[in-house]
Amino acid sequence: MSDRVVLAFSGGLDTSVAIGWIKEATGAEVIALAVDVGQGGEDMDVIRERALACGAVEAEVADVRDEFADDYCLPALKADALYMDRYPLVSALSRPIIVKHLVAAAHKHNASVVAHGCTGKGNDQVRFEVGIRALSPDLSCIAPVRDLALTRDKAIEFAEREGLPIDVTKKSPYSIDQNVWGRAVETGFLEDIWNGPSEELYTYTQNPATPREPDEVTITFDKGVPVAIDGEKVSMLQAIEVLNERAGGQGVGRIDTVEDRLVGIKSREIYESPGAMALIAAHSELLHVTTERELLRYFRGVSQRWGELVYDGLWFSPLRKVLSTVVDEVNEAASGEIRMVMHAGKATVTGRRSEASLYDYGLATYDSGDTFDQSLAHGFIELWGLPSRMAHARDNRING
Ligand code: ARG
Repeated sequence: MSDRVVLAFSGGLDTSVAIGWIKEATGAEVIALAVDVGQGGEDMDVIRERALACGAVEAEVADVRDEFADDYCLPALKADALYMDRYPLVSALSRPIIVKHLVAAAHKHNASVVAHGCTGKGNDQVRFEVGIRALSPDLSCIAPVRDLALTRDKAIEFAEREGLPIDVTKKSPYSIDQNVWGRAVETGFLEDIWNGPSEELYTYTQNPATPREPDEVTITFDKGVPVAIDGEKVSMLQAIEVLNERAGGQGVGRIDTVEDRLVGIKSREIYESPGAMALIAAHSELLHVTTERELLRYFRGVSQRWGELVYDGLWFSPLRKVLSTVVDEVNEAASGEIRMVMHAGKATVTGRRSEASLYDYGLATYDSGDTFDQSLAHGFIELWGLPSRMAHARDNRING
């Protein structure tokens, strides 16, 4: 075992205790790294101080919010990525960027081990460790909860015994992970999949059932990148933040689902991703307008596969990278504006405008000005139906 370990530090009970726990179990010094991916909540300086107070020899904070938005959330938006058609990959997207910064910290501090707070039952352990070992095969990984028997009871006992500056009574019955792209809530009474989520689970979204005025928004895209909201220029991070507020204020982006984890377990998940879901709704509609039919059909498969790879911890895989180049190519034409009404938990597209539109009014109209030659349809239908006609006639001939 190395004498230096870099720990992915969240400031919660498990990772706070992990600092002393790792030291006791292995004799190694622990360097804590807190990565700010827009999770909000406690001040990052407070979290840093806590790591030192818990015995870390060094504690660092990496503010990677813009990098996360630009290099992880944006590719997911361009791919309209939804795992199992629902989940916008909130946690799955944050792991690779945390990995990147953990590996950099390990090199900087001459550590040969990276530690994280995951259990042995989830996806995140896989995402961390596959990522770390892909970027730096010389590093090894340790998860105190999984590998060093750091149970919840022991963590509370340890924190009390050592007088760690963490309120053990504040530990939530849920496992929560959040960042600017959204929020995931698991465990507790949600493990009975018949139990409906209670309102206090939600923090990014208001109750969709509360009566309120609808909110109309226009999003401008440039090659798939949201560059303005209601005409105001925004960075990717700002686009997500503004829509988290506005779509969240309308209860948009609540998801209650049972999903297939990579480790084979089905799990109950509550997500809230107002900004992400509003952006994906707008972006995918723009692609409907600007993408040629066959390419759009193909893109759906690419989108699904992209989401599965990222979910399954394969962000750093060659296939994910190749699929991202296809996604970028499709987005070359995705420039224009989408107007949406957000209300009562839904973001509904009501208008689209694009220089790169493939929608042709003359071809589509049933009014005067029709440029479509309807006389061509007859022959087209004859030939299109030929194979089915032949097969049907054959079946009738043979089977009677
Ligand atoms: N099930 C989701 C995923 O695998 C969310 C995981 C959230 N992580 C957590 N520690 N609560 O991406």
